[in-house]
Amino acid sequence: RTIESLGSLTSRTVIVRCDLNVPLSDGVITDDGRIRASLTTIRELREAGAKVVLISHLGRPKGEPEERYSLRPVASRMAELLGAPVQFVAETVGDEAAAAVAALNDGDVVLLENLRFNPGETSKDEAERRAFATQLAAYGDAFVSDGFGVVHRSQASVTDLAELLPSAAGRLVAGELEVLRKLTDDPARPYTVVLGGSKVSDKLGVIAHLLERVDTLLIGGGMLFTFLAAQGHSVAASLLEADQLDTVRGYLAQAEQRGVRIVLPTDIVVAEAFAADAAHETVAADAIESSSFGAAGIGLDIGPETAAAFAAIIADSATVFWNGPMGVFEMEAFAAGTRTVARALTETNGFTVVGGGDSAAAVRALGFADDQFGHISTGGGASLEFLEGKTLPGLEVLA
Ligand code: 3PG
Repeated sequence: RTIESLGSLTSRTVIVRCDLNVPLSDGVITDDGRIRASLTTIRELREAGAKVVLISHLGRPKGEPEERYSLRPVASRMAELLGAPVQFVAETVGDEAAAAVAALNDGDVVLLENLRFNPGETSKDEAERRAFATQLAAYGDAFVSDGFGVVHRSQASVTDLAELLPSAAGRLVAGELEVLRKLTDDPARPYTVVLGGSKVSDKLGVIAHLLERVDTLLIGGGMLFTFLAAQGHSVAASLLEADQLDTVRGYLAQAEQRGVRIVLPTDIVVAEAFAADAAHETVAADAIESSSFGAAGIGLDIGPETAAAFAAIIADSATVFWNGPMGVFEMEAFAAGTRTVARALTETNGFTVVGGGDSAAAVRALGFADDQFGHISTGGGASLEFLEGKTLPGLEVLA
């Protein structure tokens, strides 16, 4: 259901679930992509004369207030980007929140404090979740679900609230679905997926599903070492998920059967320690222990030969989905692999999608602009689960 299904919104109070979970460093927002992505819906609701109540989580606080997870800095940044005041209320539910909502005029915007300061938001106990959602629902006449990054979560503000009020998908959610459906339904071929990030275990479902759909899978990031180890290579002190070795061997065999190309790195940047200024050198991927650091060496990036090979495959692809950095891009010495892959995405004629908060933050931190890519998804886990073909509870409830 889209916003149109809610009818006239003039003078009605609309609760909008956003995903304003932005990275912060010492209280300063380091990437405001998710705030920008939320503006289309908010602008439209204001223009329609709605009273707008924004709700979101930030980080993973454990059901009680923690200053470092406050949404206060987000309210200021959003006001700047929106060019209109965004009132911040330092609680999610309570007298202050109720009074602020009651005082709204048509077109006003208020942002309530982090939903996850309340145990009911993420509770596994359905009654507790429902009780919290009922408190939230009391603030609005209608609900717009626009936090694409959380639609894979069964949480009070995502699923329960949508059941308690007339509800619809916001423009961000609708736009994300339109793009991601192109990848699941009928991707132009060759279709290449680039996977990185630290953990194979986070990506198991998506890898299994992708093997049925893609032509080529490029593996980088911390998880590449579990693939190398599965092929029998020593990875020295690099990240290794030993309990995933059999699963990964199964994927490699399956890929071969299906004619899907899984491309693993041929060279690795190995460091003496996990530190920005650590001594490092590039060695062959099947000889990581041969680096000067021996068994203590830690692989922190794909090497230049691998990055060039990945870039060449990306250049020849008609569709590319990328999730997860290739190395520890936050440290300049280990950012080259991620930078080369990002540049290749900006240069290919194929349709490119960058999935995930971390990957989006990575390309922006490396100096690329959003419009150099076909689409930058605001959802990390959500976009992966969508590609896995899973039913996402926050979308199902809006159907
Ligand atoms: C994300 O960053 O992927 C979303 O904001 C969801 O956050 P979560 O994984 O803590 O639910």
